[in-house]
Amino acid sequence: MQCSPVSLAIVGATGAVGGELLKVLEKRDFPIRELHCFASTRSSGKEVFFRGRPIAVKPLSEEALKGIDIAIFSAGRKVSKEWVPKAAALGIRVVDNSSFFRMDPAVPLIIPEINAHALKDGDFLACCPNCSAAIMLMAVAPLHRRFKITRIVAATYQAASGAGFQAMKELEEETLAHLENRSYARTVMPHPYAFNLFPHNSPLNEEGFAEEEVKMLEETRKILEDEQIWVNATCVRVPVLRAHSEALNITFSQPVSVAEAYEVLKCSPGLTILEDRQSNRFPMPSDASGQDNVFCGRLRIDPSFPNTLDLWVVGDQLLKGAALNAVQIAELYLSKIACAPSPA
Ligand SMILES: NC(=O)c1ccc[n+]([C@@H]2O[C@H](COP(=O)([O-])OP(=O)(O)OC[C@H]3O[C@@H](n4cnc5c(N)ncnc54)[C@H](OP(=O)(O)O)[C@@H]3O)[C@@H](O)[C@H]2O)c1
Repeated sequence: MQCSPVSLAIVGATGAVGGELLKVLEKRDFPIRELHCFASTRSSGKEVFFRGRPIAVKPLSEEALKGIDIAIFSAGRKVSKEWVPKAAALGIRVVDNSSFFRMDPAVPLIIPEINAHALKDGDFLACCPNCSAAIMLMAVAPLHRRFKITRIVAATYQAASGAGFQAMKELEEETLAHLENRSYARTVMPHPYAFNLFPHNSPLNEEGFAEEEVKMLEETRKILEDEQIWVNATCVRVPVLRAHSEALNITFSQPVSVAEAYEVLKCSPGLTILEDRQSNRFPMPSDASGQDNVFCGRLRIDPSFPNTLDLWVVGDQLLKGAALNAVQIAELYLSKIACAPSPA
């Protein structure tokens, strides 16, 4: 495949995901003719670096978006709500990392290893899933395809980076203050975070589920194209800088052995089994941080419920849960608009 270089934009280039986008685009040698980096007016005068060169960060304007082929939005719901339709109207193919358009039935929600087929030739907007859903689905989708899952009970252990750059900084500063016995005035997280944990702080619905937990259910149904599957999640923020961990209790419509499930997981793209039972060594956030693949292990039969297995999954949500997944979607766009088969 030969692809012509495109004009690409990152909206939210100074953020936690934006920083990773710059690295992922560089690492995957994405064919870029011009790179435009946008952030809020707070970042006016700042530069980011791409392929060794400084790029000035600009505020968003319709004028500045003209001529761009593909834009990756990672600047939150409010910015996406206002600017994604404007970008699409200018003929820009958009990848959105925010949650604003994810559940719109007309908008594909994509994890390329699982449902690349959902992106159609005429699509100008595609969304990346919630980071906890994405990490879970990398292991769950291949098992569902082979054995049909009916229900998942999930507990998440979510890193500070899931809440953005300022949350990571706050965790570091609060940890230092705690060790030095100083008081610390938090501005990002609602509760003490250093040497502590708390149930996810997204808004609760009437049934008491956090928005993050509802996303894990709804987005799983949309991506797996299965309205019957259940996900009952308890999402928790833990004082880890980077990479989410998840304990999954998975019920199938039929008996599935550990060996059969491992056979499927072993061959699944983007997934690495990491375990050494003799030394009790299984995936940790420190294994997954900075890694493209999602890690899993500790697969075992749940003797308390029929047709049920337990699985432990860990993934860098800044990568597979955001930046990497977004660039993979941009590559799908690229294959539709700028690539031709190599001459034989
Ligand atoms: N963090 C994750 O693991 C993760 C995973 C999946 C999805 N997401 C989604 O990705 C998005 C970004 O998350 P993040 O963690 O990178 O957050 P972040 O670290 O707080 O970064 C936010 C970015 O958005 C920019 N921004 C804010 N207001 C803007 C405006 N009015 N116009 C243009 N840019 C603006 C910020 O610019 P300034 O620096 O100038 O403020 C910054 O570059 C969010 O929608 C989030 O839900 C994040």
